[in-house]
Amino acid sequence: MSHAPMPDAERLAEPMRSRWSPSVFDARHVIGDADVETLLTAAVWAPSAGNSQPWRFVVAPRGSAAHTAFVPHLSRGNSGWVPRASLVLVAGCEVVDVKDADTARYDLGQAAAHVTLQAVAMGLHAHQFGGFDKDAAAVALGVPAHVRLMAGIAVGVRGDPAEVPERDREREHRERARRPLGEVAMGLGWQPWRP
Ligand SMILES: Cc1cc2nc3c(=O)[nH]c(=O)nc-3n(C[C@H](O)[C@H](O)[C@H](O)COP(=O)(O)O)c2cc1C
Repeated sequence: MSHAPMPDAERLAEPMRSRWSPSVFDARHVIGDADVETLLTAAVWAPSAGNSQPWRFVVAPRGSAAHTAFVPHLSRGNSGWVPRASLVLVAGCEVVDVKDADTARYDLGQAAAHVTLQAVAMGLHAHQFGGFDKDAAAVALGVPAHVRLMAGIAVGVRGDPAEVPERDREREHRERARRPLGEVAMGLGWQPWRP
């Protein structure tokens, strides 16, 4: 089963065209260490301001001690689907005592995008999530104070929708819509850009 249609996306290159955020992961799929390393390598080859590479990831494959420590801090809405994924990367960045914390956050987002696209290219899916108690998760995971957790990236393969609660099943069928270009691309004087 594929995701809802994406108007205009057919002209995009792979793997962007095929990327989406499923909420039904196969809780039996195990991700190998080599694949985890490849995903992390995609992150580290992202560009960053001055090549500062401010991103950090706590690597939490399902069944690991890190995963067990992280899961209790998920929001209620994420607590059903995230633990089924094969891997959670808890993404943070150095924002204390850095030259420009905004840029560090920007760079982390780009590294996360690399992970999601690399996952698709490997036949996996990635679904980012911000819904967890970041301070509590940082303590549970032993993250040092100069690193702020920003988001999680759940990675895995799609599972059987019949195995998950209605809420997670329905999440996948939400319409995937985007703002029209006229709302996001501007010309001089903040007028909608026109080709
Ligand atoms: C920083 C960030 C935080 C997000 N937080 C959540 C979340 O807490 N729970 C969730 O189900 N999805 C979360 N998402 C996924 C978005 O809802 C999803 O990417 C968006 O609806 C677009 O859908 P698509 O990724 O399938 O194109 C998050 C995505 C990002 C990038």
